Amino acid sequence: MGVDLEQINPRNQAALRAWWEVGRAATAHRPGNPWPAWEQTRVTLPADDPEGAVTVLAAIDGREMVGAGLLVRPLRDNLHTATVDAYVRPDRTREGIGRRLVEELEVVAAGDGRRTLHAEVFLAPGATGTGPEAFAAATGYGVASRESIRELAVDDYRSRHDRLVEEAAPAAAYDVVTFDTVCPDVHVESFGRLLGTLLDEIPLGDLDLQASAWSPERVRAAEQRQVGIGRHVLTALAIAPDGSVAGSSDVRVNETDTAHGQVGITLVDPAHRGHRLGLALKVATHDLALATYPGLRTVETSNAEVNAHMNAVNDALGYRTIETLLELQKVL
Ligand SMILES: CC(C)(COP(=O)(O)OP(=O)(O)OC[C@H]1O[C@@H](n2cnc3c(N)ncnc32)[C@H](O)[C@@H]1OP(=O)(O)O)[C@@H](O)C(=O)NCCC(=O)NCCS
Repeated sequence: MGVDLEQINPRNQAALRAWWEVGRAATAHRPGNPWPAWEQTRVTLPADDPEGAVTVLAAIDGREMVGAGLLVRPLRDNLHTATVDAYVRPDRTREGIGRRLVEELEVVAAGDGRRTLHAEVFLAPGATGTGPEAFAAATGYGVASRESIRELAVDDYRSRHDRLVEEAAPAAAYDVVTFDTVCPDVHVESFGRLLGTLLDEIPLGDLDLQASAWSPERVRAAEQRQVGIGRHVLTALAIAPDGSVAGSSDVRVNETDTAHGQVGITLVDPAHRGHRLGLALKVATHDLALATYPGLRTVETSNAEVNAHMNAVNDALGYRTIETLLELQKVL
C-alpha cells in the first residue's frame, strides 16, 4: 500500500485537524512554542489572506495522515517566491515522504511562476549535522541566512523594567503611540511608508526578497485579516516632532493562547536612529502586552545573527537564545 499525496481544503475541519496533528508531532521536540493551538490553525488557514495564498498538502497512508505540507505564495509582493514547509510524523521519517511533499509543493509553486523557494529549519543553538539540515541539502535547499530564535520570560523582563525605562530616556523627544492592530487614521500613511522600507533595512543574507510599497489600503486589509483571525498586533509607533512615523514595533498575541506572544516587525527609520527608539518601542509593546494579557508568560522573537543592534536591544530586555533558525532558499 503506497502513500498518496492529496491537497486538502482547509475548510474541511477533520482533514485539517489530522494535518495539524502531524505538524504538532513533528515539532513536539522543539523548545518554546513552535506550533500554534488547534483553535488558531482552525481559524487561520481557511480565512482569506490578502497577503498570501495557501496550498495545504497531506501525505495519506490508507486512512492515516503521515505527512503535512504547506505552500504560501505571497500575493502583494515578491511574486517570484513561495514558502515551503514539510512535516513528517516522527514514526514515519526516512521513507521518502518529506521529499515527495517538497517536490509536489515545488510543482504547485512552479505552476504559478514561483521560481525562488524559501523554507526554514530549526536546530538546537549551534548544532550542526542535524537531520533537518541533511534533508534540506538532499532536497536542494541552501542556507541563505542564519537567525536566532529567542525567548523572553516575562518575569525576567519585569525585573529589568525600571532600568530599561531609564535607558530609553534619549527617546523622549518622540511621542510613543500604541494601538491594538488598527493604526489610527492620522498615522496610517506614514506608517505604510515606513513598512515599505522593511525589506531594504533588515539583514536578509542571500535571501532574494524585494521591498514593496504599503498603501493605506494594503495596511488596512492586512489589519482586517489579523482582526478576523483573532490575532492582536499590539503596536507602538514613535512619532517624530514633525508628525511622521519614525519607528514601529509590535508584539502579537493570539486569542487562542494568551500565555505566549511573538514579536513581529521592529523598524526604526535610518534618519531617526541613535535615540534608543528600538528599546523605547519594545518596552512600550511589551508593557502593552502585559497590561492587556496579565497571564502572558513568554514572548518569542527571531532575528538574523548579524543584526547586532536588534540583538543588543533584545539582550537588554532579557531575551535568551533557544534555537538556531536557518533560512533556506532554492531557485528552481
Ligand atoms: C525533515 C523532515 C520533513 C524529513 O522528512 P522525511 O520524510 O524523513 O524525509 P525523506 O525520507 O524524504 O528524506 C529525504 C532525504 O533527506 C535526508 N534526510 C532526511 N532526514 C534525515 C536525517 N534524520 N538524517 C540524515 N539525513 C536525513 C536523506 O538524504 C534522505 O534521503 P535517504 O533517506 O534516501 O538517505 C522530517 O524529519 C520532519 O518532519 N522534521 C520536522 C520538521 C522539519 O524540520 N521540516 C523541514 C523544514 S520544512
